[in-house]
This record gives sequence, C-alpha cells and structure tokens, in this order.
Amino acid sequence: MSEKNPKLRAELEGIPTYKPGKPAAADGPAAYKLSSNENPYPPLPGVMETVTAAACDLNRYPDMACTALTEELAERFGVPASHVATGTGSVGVAQQLIQATSGPGDEVIYAWRSFEAYPIIAQISGATSVKVPLTSDEVHDLDAMADAITDRTRLIFVCNPNNPTGTVVRRAELERFLDRVPGDVLVVLDEAYREFIRDAEVPDGVMIYRDRPNVCVLRTFSKAYGLAGLRVGFAIAHEPVAAALRKTAVPFGVSQLAQEAAVASLRAEDELLGRVGSLVCERTRVVDTLRAQGWTVPETHANFVWLRLGERTVAFAEACEQAGVVIRPFAGEGVRVTIGETEANDIFLKAAEAFRKEA
Ligand SMILES: Cc1ncc(COP(=O)(O)O)c(C=O)c1O
Repeated sequence: MSEKNPKLRAELEGIPTYKPGKPAAADGPAAYKLSSNENPYPPLPGVMETVTAAACDLNRYPDMACTALTEELAERFGVPASHVATGTGSVGVAQQLIQATSGPGDEVIYAWRSFEAYPIIAQISGATSVKVPLTSDEVHDLDAMADAITDRTRLIFVCNPNNPTGTVVRRAELERFLDRVPGDVLVVLDEAYREFIRDAEVPDGVMIYRDRPNVCVLRTFSKAYGLAGLRVGFAIAHEPVAAALRKTAVPFGVSQLAQEAAVASLRAEDELLGRVGSLVCERTRVVDTLRAQGWTVPETHANFVWLRLGERTVAFAEACEQAGVVIRPFAGEGVRVTIGETEANDIFLKAAEAFRKEA
C-alpha cells in the first residue's frame, strides 16, 4: 500500500470548522436548545401532512428546477421567476455565490463578528476574507467596509440583521454604502432574519435589489418558517447572478420534501408570521428583563440576543447549561441566546440574573 495520501487543496488547511449550536443532551442538565437560532414551534399540521405525503415518492429525484417553489416565490415577491434561485439552505446559496464570483486572489468583505459560515465558504473557494470589525455599538461599519474595497474585491456580505449581534443597518446608510460599491462587485444582503424586523427604517432588500443589478438578497425557510431541518433557502438577484446560481447548484440539492414544505409554508404564511409575532413579543420581554437586571444588550432585530461578556463568556454559558438551557458562546467575546419557548426564556433570564448577582 502506498504511503502517500491523496493531494488535497492547500486552501483546506486551517479552515475554521463550523460550530453547530450544541444540542440539549438527553442525559444532561439542559432541556432547552437556545444555541442555533431555530424556531421553537414544531411544523404546522398542514405542512406535516404535505411532507408526509411527499415522502411516498422518496424513490424519485426531486424537481431539479424547483419549479413550483420558484413560481410561488416569484409571485410572493413580485419578481420574475428568472430572478429566483433556490439552494440547500441560504448557506448553500451563499457558498454558490462565492463559487460564482471569487477564487484565489479575490477578496470577500464582511463585517466581523458576523455569520460564522462566511470565512469557511470564502476559504473553500480560495478567496481571501477581509473582515471589517463591527463598531463599538456592534453594528456594521459600512464606511470602513466601503474603504476596504480594492480592485480584487468580488463580493461583500451585509448581514442584516447581523448574526450574532442582532443589530441592523438602516435604509439611508445602506443606500449610501451601495452608492460607493463599484457595479462589478456583488453585494449580498443576507436577510435570514428579515421577518423578525419591526423597524420601518430597516430596508427590505427586495426593494433595494430592484434597481441595483449588483445586489442580491438571501432569504431562508429555516428561521421564521421553521424548516431548518429541511434545508431550503433562496436568492433574489438579477439575471446574470441568478443564472450563475443555477450553474453552481448541486443537481437535485433541494429535496422534494423541502420544496413542497416551503410552498405549503408560504401558503400558511399568516399563521407562521403570527408565531413570529409571538417570538418578537418574547424578544421584547427578554431584552427588557436583561436590561432591568443591569446587562448591556444591543438592540436586536432578530430571534436572538447578544451579550458581550469577554472573559466571562464560557462561565456564563456553563451556568446557563446547568440551569437548563444551552446557549451559543463565542469564547472570549460573548454569547448569543436564541429566543425560544417562554419556559426556556424564563430559565435563561433566571440564570442571567443569578450570574449577574454573583459577578
Ligand atoms: C445570517 C445567516 N445567514 C444564513 C444562515 C443560514 O441558514 P440556512 O442555511 O439554514 O438557510 C444563517 C443560519 O444561522 C444565518 O444566521
């Protein structure tokens, strides 16, 4: 047998690993998972029925073009079907966008800290990440991001609201930023948490993309629509970019179950968005309570809150786990806590209060 190993691309060396939110272990103290920004509500009965019925055809490949879902989305957003591209979660679509635009020597700009998949998918393509620190208010520093553009920049992510801080950029500052970006650089507005926004000054990316050919909007069924386990997301982009997404898609990547569940969810949107409304009320309660306890909490527009804890991050996460909720620590920086069921939020708030009193 040869002593040699297969040659792998050098870019894979040192690639950061994606850390999924820790589950609540069956034999551990924590009963609730607040570590992955999931929707705590189970699928709607109608969506379950659709998925169960679709399971009868699991011996068949899915519709590769996601025709019904694409048409439904085009209608829902008032865009041509040729501007809609689906993928295996919006992270899958984000990876396709990098593959389509950026290779070795090219630069991908994003705020930091932001969604942890960005450095991974940039590095897989061999592109160079340019991380622009958030401001002291935990918000994208759009001026600094615009200053970071070079002739090697190919793609810029603007995560709005930002994961993990929940903060947003508003219309005027985003438009000003976009005016500074050259037309041959793709700006991806990652709006995974769009449905949780209640601030009218935060722009809907779909309105912005319409007259800006270099803007692409990313959305997902994983958060507000509660289908994280089925892996379906989509982009809305002008023709050349949407066509590039079709070229870079894994053939048959989005399962038929996912396609049909997504269509059923769009048709049950009122009920699903009602659930989002309840989570937004819980978010207000959690933020208000934390502030009353003395914590500094950045204004969040998503289904999670961010506490910058520095060196106390891991200890805080351990205290929460002992109390019964698993949260997401970013060691040395802070914790992100998903808004979950009322009972879970209560446990978290109690743990936060106890931690604060001990500190
Ligand atoms: C900002 C952001 N974008 C994209 C995603 C990816 O979601 P999905 O691949 O499940 O659609 C996430 C998931 O946490 C996210 O936080």
